[in-house]
Parts: sequence; structure tokens; C-alpha cells
Amino acid sequence: MTHSHPTKVKRGLWSSRLGFIMASAGSAIGLGNIWKFPYITGMHGGGAFVLFFIFCIVTVGIPLMIAEMIIGRHTRKDPVGAFKGLHGGAWVLTGWLGVIAGFMILSYYCVVAGWAVDYLWLSFRGTFTQQHSGQVPEIFSNLLSNDLSQLFWQAVFMLMTVIIVIGGVKSGLERANKIMMPILFLILLVLAGLGLNSPGGAQAVRFLFSPDWSKLDPPAMLEALGHAFFSLSLGMGAMLTYGSYADEETSIPKVAITVSLMDTLVALLSGLAIFPIVFTYGMEPAAGPGLVFKTLPVLFSRMPGGTIIATLFFLLLVFAALTSSISLLEVVVAYYCDENRWGRKKATLVMGAIIFLIGVPSALSNNMLKDVHIIGARNFLDSIDLACTNYILPLGGLLIALFSGWVMTQGIAKGELLKGDTNAYIYPAWHFLIKYVAPVLVALVFLNKAGFF
Ligand code: PFF
Repeated sequence: MTHSHPTKVKRGLWSSRLGFIMASAGSAIGLGNIWKFPYITGMHGGGAFVLFFIFCIVTVGIPLMIAEMIIGRHTRKDPVGAFKGLHGGAWVLTGWLGVIAGFMILSYYCVVAGWAVDYLWLSFRGTFTQQHSGQVPEIFSNLLSNDLSQLFWQAVFMLMTVIIVIGGVKSGLERANKIMMPILFLILLVLAGLGLNSPGGAQAVRFLFSPDWSKLDPPAMLEALGHAFFSLSLGMGAMLTYGSYADEETSIPKVAITVSLMDTLVALLSGLAIFPIVFTYGMEPAAGPGLVFKTLPVLFSRMPGGTIIATLFFLLLVFAALTSSISLLEVVVAYYCDENRWGRKKATLVMGAIIFLIGVPSALSNNMLKDVHIIGARNFLDSIDLACTNYILPLGGLLIALFSGWVMTQGIAKGELLKGDTNAYIYPAWHFLIKYVAPVLVALVFLNKAGFF
């Protein structure tokens, strides 16, 4: 099936299949894998949570990533334009939900990424050395109690994101990803290797992989499902937008499977780097959002060459966060460029500034606004994170799954899916998963959380 896409050239394309894979993997792999996965795994008791998370990736995540990329490549549009073009009506709201999620997630993503930039600076200055090893947890609480410095690093990170996104698809997004991704893999591999050989290594492996199913209560299931969406950048049109820059010869299922495998591997590797430290030094697995910042620096401060390794690690974390934040901003920018005909530069600068402002309450949520609780006892940052990952993304994902399984013309889906070098059996398998399995699983997890069972 051939289509003529007059806007294709103007919108830009990835220069190669590898460029597309690297950019999508860059979007998927980020703070979600290194900051969030270990801390929520710790809070939900380990093994059972991890296995259910992997189950969600296979049954919902991969089919949905394929669906988003198919819709993107077929329409060559931003999420709102894509649903308008394919069907219109109320389905356009699905695209809107995605753009709104982009605003919300990026707003607090920049705050947490700002913590990582601060730690990069601290590492570079040689803060994590033997004589300070006892003060590592204090360093984190000092950062949280300093509003100005959090705002400063949040702004620095947003500025970096804006600069890359202004560069556009090929020169900006793709070049950044190609350099950043391989470095990330290598450093994590080394840290996980060190962890496995440390005294707490065996206990960490048990914690991560041997399930105690009684820990998998309804909130843990929803958290695992939501995290599968967050970690794979699904449910809000980021992969749809990246698919819209893919060439016609690339096999989308191959890209989606590769990216999902890489993403899962990185999450598990960071667990294998962090939990050995937790168990070696008798720390608390359920320490919460500060886990990565309180554990790894202890290791860095006690090992030879720790300053260099710490600097490399936080550089990696900032890289990983940047390759994700650019995809979040890209969803919003693509919308303003495609639908409202804004120039790329104007859209990026204006939206970057607005999203920075939306993020200010998150930056202040641990100090000035620490008594403001939105959802339960959660502060602003944790509440907006919970709202996005546990509700908005799974809802967006449910709608995209229903759309691609029940509404979209299957000729379009099949044609897109089988382009490139794709095994023909993939189509019926994908169709079954996206039409029945993914919607039912998401609905069951929602109902379970609401107390229906
Ligand atoms: N997947 C990213 C991470 O794990 O850090 C976060 C993210 C990026 C979520 C892009 C959603 C998105 F559209």
C-alpha cells in the first residue's frame, strides 16, 4: 500500500531504522527506569511486582507501542491530528489527553531530572568521597529543603531540553540519542556487575525476582501497569509522534519489540545496581523517591575512583532523562506545529516556558509547599506523578487500544504492521492482543483498584 504524504518531507524523518530505534529507546529509557522503577519496586515488596510489571509489558506494552507507531506512521501527524485524520469525533479527545499528559509529565520530570543535574555537579566537585560517606542521605534532604536550588536545576534541565528540541528531528533528537544511549548501557552494566559481586548481591537478586504474591495488592497492580505505560512512553502519543517520523520500510513490530526489551533490561539493571547497596549497607528498600540518590552515592563515596564513577553515572542519568524529556516536549511541539501551524522554534520556546511554570509547584513540593497534600498524604509532585501514571496514561492506552482494535480499519493496521521485513503471523497475534487482551487487562486492573473484586 502506498500513500502520498505531502507533509512528510517538511516534517522530517529519522535518517535510518537505527536512528528510529535509538530515538524510541531514548524516549522509553529514562528516569522511569533508573529513578522510579527501583523505588516503586522497593515500596511494593519486590519480586511479584517486578514479574507483574514484565507481564504487563508483554501483553499490553508491546502491542500498544506497535499500535501507536502504526497510527503515527500512517497519518504522519501529531496525536490530535492523527485521530482527527483517521476518524474524528470524540476519538480526537484521545489525542488531546496525550498532549495534556505531555504538559503534566514534563512539568515534574524536569524537577526530578534537576535533582540528577545537581548530583552531577556535586559528583564532579568531589562531594562523594570517603570522609562524606556518612552524610549521603543528608545531602539529599538538604537539596529537597532548598527551593531555590531545585528551581535553578529544573530551569537548567528545561533549557537543555528546549535547545535539543529546537534543533528538530534529525539534527537535534537523533544526534543526541545516538551519542547518549550506548554510554548509558555500558555504565549501568558495570554498576550492576559491581552490585552482583557485593555482599548484598544475592539478597538483591532474591528480592527482585522471587515473588511473594501476597504483596501484589490492587494498588501494586495498578502501579505496575501504570509504570509499564510510563516506562515505555505509552498512552500519550509519544511513540505515535516518533512513529510519524519513521520511514516506510521499517518493520514497526521489530522496533517496538527491540525498544521494549532494551527498556526492561535497563530497569532490571538499575535494580541490580541499587538493591545490592540497599542490602549491603542495611538500608530501607521502601525509602521512596530518594532511593537512587541515597544509595548509589554511598557506594561511590566508598570505592576507589568513586568521584569519576559518580560523575559518569549522573551524567548518564541526565542523558537518559534528556532523551525522554525531548520526546515529551516533542508531543506538545508537534501538536502546535502540525495543528496550529506554529514555527518549531516558537512552539518549543513558548511551551518550554509554560511547562516550566507548571512545574514550579512540584519543585516547591518538598519544602515551601510540603504541607499541601493533593492525593492522600502525597505532596504535589507525587500526586501529579500518580495521577499521570496510574490514571491518565492507562486511560489513554485503553482508548488507543480500543481504537486500534475495534475502530481503525484493519486494512490500514495490517498494511502498516507488515511493512518492512515482518513475519506475517505477527498481525493476528497483535490483533488479538490489542483487541481483547490489552483492554480487558487494563479494565480489570482499574476495577480491581476500585474495589470491584
Ligand atoms: N519513558 C520515560 C521514562 O521512563 O523515564 C518517561 C516518559 C517519556 C513517559 C515520554 C511518557 C512519555 F511520553
